[in-house]
Amino acid sequence: MRKKLKLGILGGGGNSLIGVLHRVAAYMYEHYEIVGGAFHSKYESSLEFAKNNGLPTDRIYKNIDDLIAKEMALPETERMDVVSVVTPNFLHFDMVKKLLDNNFHVICEKPLTTTYQEAKILKKAIEGKHLVFAVTHTYTGYPMVREMRKLVESGRLGTIQKVDVQYYQGWINPIIHDVEKRKTTWHLDPEKSGKSSCLADIGVHAFNMIEFTTGLKVDKVLSDLNYLYDDNPMDIDGTVLLRFSKNVKGVLRSSQVATGEENGLSIKIYGDKAGMKWEQEDPNFLYLMEEDKPLQVLKPGHAYNSELSLNSVKLPPGHPEGIFDAMGNIYLGVAKAIKGEPYDSGEFPTLTDGVRGMNFIESAMESHSNGNIWVAIDNE
Ligand SMILES: NC(=O)c1ccc[n+]([C@@H]2O[C@H](COP(=O)([O-])OP(=O)(O)OC[C@H]3O[C@@H](n4cnc5c(N)ncnc54)[C@H](O)[C@@H]3O)[C@@H](O)[C@H]2O)c1
Repeated sequence: MRKKLKLGILGGGGNSLIGVLHRVAAYMYEHYEIVGGAFHSKYESSLEFAKNNGLPTDRIYKNIDDLIAKEMALPETERMDVVSVVTPNFLHFDMVKKLLDNNFHVICEKPLTTTYQEAKILKKAIEGKHLVFAVTHTYTGYPMVREMRKLVESGRLGTIQKVDVQYYQGWINPIIHDVEKRKTTWHLDPEKSGKSSCLADIGVHAFNMIEFTTGLKVDKVLSDLNYLYDDNPMDIDGTVLLRFSKNVKGVLRSSQVATGEENGLSIKIYGDKAGMKWEQEDPNFLYLMEEDKPLQVLKPGHAYNSELSLNSVKLPPGHPEGIFDAMGNIYLGVAKAIKGEPYDSGEFPTLTDGVRGMNFIESAMESHSNGNIWVAIDNE
């Protein structure tokens, strides 16, 4: 029988947004078993959550220190192989650092940390260790997003000359205009979210999508953020110009006050031979626009797709692939990597992507606060 990876989870308890996605993703391809963790900040709540969800209750921990101490006391064969960190942002750094220092593989939610400095410390901490580290930029798990990456790689679009990514949500609109209501979400609390709300929450996904699909690296950014109120310390909207090189440019638009928008992530990439566009709310349709040819609509599961895209699909064409499947595909890639099986570099975003994301957030914030100037992204 195939050995399942022992997975621990930090955060993601009953009332959380993203927890269920990680749990379902872990079980999707039968590579993992959830053995314990700390799903809430209070031990009793974690225990209750585990009981209510049929999860084992003998490895529920008070916090990260308790988890490390007790897991390290177990024989290696019993110990958690990998731990998912799905808490609010401000807790990621301390948890991840301790996990890396004790040689656990890690799956971490975005944004990786609350500062670029912390992200660089994590990069140092993993150096020389043979550990797998994934950052869950979930949208990279969709079959047609993976197909975009492979189409660019294959040269079908020619030389990329323009990129346009938009991530519009409207959920902060009913909250932002009332000072009391702002206190109801950690996203508007710099202590918990980090310096940024909009860029750290969704702008960073958009940034990752561009680099993931085009294979290009953003060189510098110029941003114009909106805070709406002087007493609100957090950006809730931001437009960022992107410069890849002298002749390759793009724009990233993100908003949490795009009233009425739900999860409107869309990306358009234009090369000198073809363009393509994809929307998260309609993820099974990829539009390919080649010069002098009729519009083509590519869909998951058909033989014309790349191996990476085809391997991201479980059912015959016509069964819609959704956000749970996308996360499941990321967990699948991580399992292959941990088990030493072959995998494609497009199967999961890495710590390096997480570090670049933090670099992007801080550079864009610096650009805005210094009068909308160009600020470089480190390209080591
Ligand atoms: N990949 C994506 O598309 C995506 C989508 C949403 C959120 N996220 C990220 O996931 C993370 C969590 O976001 P969310 O919206 O699920 O948050 P949330 O506030 O809905 O849930 C957070 C969970 O963490 C638990 N928690 C808080 N403190 C804890 C502690 N000290 N120890 C253990 N558990 C603790 C809470 O009890 C809760 O269950 C954030 O970093 C966010 O940016 C990613």
